[in-house]
Amino acid sequence: MVKKILPIAGFLFLVGCSPSESQPEQAQAETIIEQGDPLINGRWYRQSQVNLGDGLFKENCTTCHGDNGQGTFGWKNRLADGSFPPPPLNGSGHAWHHPLSLLVRTISEGGISRGGKMPAFNNKLNSDEQVAIAAYFQNFWKDEIYQAWIQRGGLN
Ligand code: HEC
Repeated sequence: MVKKILPIAGFLFLVGCSPSESQPEQAQAETIIEQGDPLINGRWYRQSQVNLGDGLFKENCTTCHGDNGQGTFGWKNRLADGSFPPPPLNGSGHAWHHPLSLLVRTISEGGISRGGKMPAFNNKLNSDEQVAIAAYFQNFWKDEIYQAWIQRGGLN
């Protein structure tokens, strides 16, 4: 499992890089991996990514998604303008139906272009930071949710 996941996580770091930025971003990805901390519970991410994601989540996401990613009360009900309130990211909502690539793309692109309310973060957070935030909120997921996510192709 660990051997299978590692190259995919590496791939994610790389696809987020534009050519002009690839040097510093790769260096940063390597710094994270070289810290030598193990994968958490055999999951795709490491403690250092959760730690990085923790601060970034508090700065950028908790105002809408809640301190622990619990979302907003009534998140399943459309608002008057047709959009939805911020959903939970802690495993109790639908986020686990989406592969990591889509979760990171949502952070990067937001939802405004699709009629939603979430702002894009691609001009504020680099790809390592976006991936680290996904690690942070996935770390709230119970093992059964994480395993269901893997079975749905979460890392494909
Ligand atoms: C201004 C409020 C707001 C902020 C800030 C915000 N979001 Fe969102 N987010 C939403 C809303 C509302 C949705 C539902 C889709 C939409 O309306 O765009 C959403 C959807 C999502 C989804 C998809 C969840 C699913 O079940 O499909 C993810 C993942 C997500 N947000 C992560 C984040 C992260 C990580 C941050 C911080 C970097 C963040 N959001 C910041 C409001 C916000």
